[in-house]
Amino acid sequence: MRYLTAGESHGPELTTIIEGVPAGLTLSIDAINHELAKRQGGYGRGGRMKIEKDQVRITSGVRHSQTLGSPITMIVENRDWKNWQKVMSVEAVSEKDQKLRRVAKPRPGHADLVGGMKYQHNDLRNVLERSSARETTMRVAVGAIAKQILAAVDIEIASHVVILGGIEASIPEKLSVKEIQAKTAASEVNMVDETVEAAVKELIDQTKKAGDTIGGVVEVRTDNVPAGLGSYVQWDRKLDGKIAQIMLSINAFKGVEFGIGFEAARQPGSKVMDEIVWEEGYSRTSNHLGGFEGGMTNGEQIIVRGVMKPIPTLYKPLMSVDIDTKEPYKASVERSDSTAVPAASVVAENVVATVLAEELLEQFSADTIADLQQAVAQYRETIKNF
Ligand SMILES: Cc1cc2nc3c(=O)[nH]c(=O)nc-3n(C[C@H](O)[C@H](O)[C@H](O)COP(=O)(O)O)c2cc1C
Repeated sequence: MRYLTAGESHGPELTTIIEGVPAGLTLSIDAINHELAKRQGGYGRGGRMKIEKDQVRITSGVRHSQTLGSPITMIVENRDWKNWQKVMSVEAVSEKDQKLRRVAKPRPGHADLVGGMKYQHNDLRNVLERSSARETTMRVAVGAIAKQILAAVDIEIASHVVILGGIEASIPEKLSVKEIQAKTAASEVNMVDETVEAAVKELIDQTKKAGDTIGGVVEVRTDNVPAGLGSYVQWDRKLDGKIAQIMLSINAFKGVEFGIGFEAARQPGSKVMDEIVWEEGYSRTSNHLGGFEGGMTNGEQIIVRGVMKPIPTLYKPLMSVDIDTKEPYKASVERSDSTAVPAASVVAENVVATVLAEELLEQFSADTIADLQQAVAQYRETIKNF
């Protein structure tokens, strides 16, 4: 399975084409729209989210709710586009109109300046329109299909926010995907610990008032992933490496860890490795390594965390330089959120789901979803008897 995304933040629409989804999957469009709505939610989101109520339109690869095995094209319209038609016009416009909404004061922490230098754009809007996290909309749409492939082989996945602006959720030692889903269902900040919810929302309000922004840490967990996905035999087949890459590809993500992650630097080996036991199959007495050994899943929960920096656009802007005059100036302000960590957890869940679905389809190459189900069931039986 492979896919590309396309589209500018204020262009007419966002697009993706996914190739390699097996035929015969009963696809729920509601489930895709549900993920898109979750990505747009979360306490502390700005005005853009009120304008865009994302709905996916599928224009190929699905008939009568069934995937055909042919490329699936998905489109999400940018409703705000009607206000940006001149600014984002594909056709040439007058010299005066070329200056509309021109960005000449790059925002620190964004792609604005370096993208302008690299692609020689005199209007930094040409950069920010694509570097914007609006792009993650289509990755979530792809992930929502990936999650349906995973569900067909009983693999579950969920996400939650572990730290927001320094406030940390207390997380039980064992936390299943179903528990995450149940505990976060009513949370506006996608946290499993309701005792910190009020403090987190208060912090978001204060931050917004101060014209500032906050970041955090998100966690993705999976249940029922069989042991042996990924491989140790070649560096680029290590599945933890692929997941790390996709996590870091999410806008504003600066670090990733599995299980106890960076804490392993402070602990002796006896407190880090997970001891092996056998009881009608192999399992571990702990899961400090987050479900990976040798680049392969080991049958325990995958536990992966990513750190998101605070949003770089500040309503109290940071100092920058005007690219025309080279004079110091306050950075431009685009409509922005004070935090997007809850939304980012939804993005993380969906991009990890995509990598897992890609891996499954590589390992158990299948033209139809029934073939995949049969191959995975047989594999589960084989490793059970090892
Ligand atoms: C879901 C999500 C929403 C975001 N919303 C905003 C936003 O409203 N304003 C902003 O300045 N950055 C936002 N960001 C972060 C920027 O897109 C990101 O920092 C920027 O593209 C630069 O990339 P880098 O931080 O990965 O280097 C968001 C990120 C995510 C994942």
